[in-house]
Amino acid sequence: MLVLGIESSCDETGVALVETRATGVPALRSQALYSQIDMHQAYGGVVPELASRDHIRRVLPLAESVLADAGVALAEIDVVAYTRGPGLAGALLVGAGVACALGAALGKPVLGVHHLEGHLLSPFLGADPPQFPFIALLVSGGHTQLMQVDGVGHYQLLGETIDDAAGEAFDKSAKLMGLGYPGGPALSRLAEQGDAQAFKLPRPLLHSGDLDFSFAGLKTAVLTQAKKLGADLESCKADLAASTQAAIVEVLVKKSLAALERSGLDRLVVAGGVGANKALRAQLGAACKARGVRVHYPELEFCTDNGAMIAMAAAMRLQANAQTATTVYAFDVKPRWPLTDLSLRA
Ligand code: KG4
Ligand code: ZN
Repeated sequence: MLVLGIESSCDETGVALVETRATGVPALRSQALYSQIDMHQAYGGVVPELASRDHIRRVLPLAESVLADAGVALAEIDVVAYTRGPGLAGALLVGAGVACALGAALGKPVLGVHHLEGHLLSPFLGADPPQFPFIALLVSGGHTQLMQVDGVGHYQLLGETIDDAAGEAFDKSAKLMGLGYPGGPALSRLAEQGDAQAFKLPRPLLHSGDLDFSFAGLKTAVLTQAKKLGADLESCKADLAASTQAAIVEVLVKKSLAALERSGLDRLVVAGGVGANKALRAQLGAACKARGVRVHYPELEFCTDNGAMIAMAAAMRLQANAQTATTVYAFDVKPRWPLTDLSLRA
């Protein structure tokens, strides 16, 4: 079965083709991505209306190039999948509208996918897919969650952020250091040249005894520190970046280890944009190795938003239950959509 997947929840237009198999993990046939980062950079963040308009411009040419790369004709597609939520309403509507129109025109079923399920299952796009069950650390610009994943559609929330997401903590700290958008990669690059011990920043909820996170206080502490430094900020920026990153990474690592310990599981999947962070990878890698835990990461290109993870999540759902797609082409999008809602329909 050939599944075309369309991602348009935020500032990346992604399209990909994944093929299901009788057994084993579905295979990625081709994919294409257009990032709007350059366009939003001038505004210091994503402008939703501009994002929607740009998705409209990109989605069909991307779909054409994905089909051409795979040598597949439009009529050969079996299911059209799209990100139904969570995300920016207008942006989601573009992908959903195109997918459902395509499905209707071809007479093929459509399937709305949860964006975070895409991130969760993105390590299955790599050469070293994990086995169920595993603990997942989902760290993106909008979400920070620890989940127990027992199978496709079987997701148990163990803990999550009570305020800002980890990616938001990177982005907001970077912004007030004048590092531009998106802040995470810029801050982590600068941190490589800094001293992580230079500034004492809080590790919120580190000893809370549960698996929840809080990053809003850290951002405030970074702001206070930046103000205190005043004109000296420029010369200490790398140290402040390194200290900020160290605070975020330490909390993520400790809580992930606590989740593994509580569940008794020995496999960890790290997904979402912050999963690309080198310091997080290094520290999680060392801590997990010492405990005999296998860590699985998506390939770097699949850490941030992309169409391949949406096509993969749809294909894995279809492999588990071929009836999960629909030929009802009236659609809605879900800008807010808890991942745990999915378990009910699994
Ligand atoms: O998963 P994603 O592409 O989009 C959402 O679904 O939110 O994640 C984007 C987030 C942004 O906050 C970005 O700053 C962060 O991931 N990010 C990073 C790195 N690369 C992306 N944060 C820290 N270090 C990185 N290398
Ligand atoms: Zn995402």
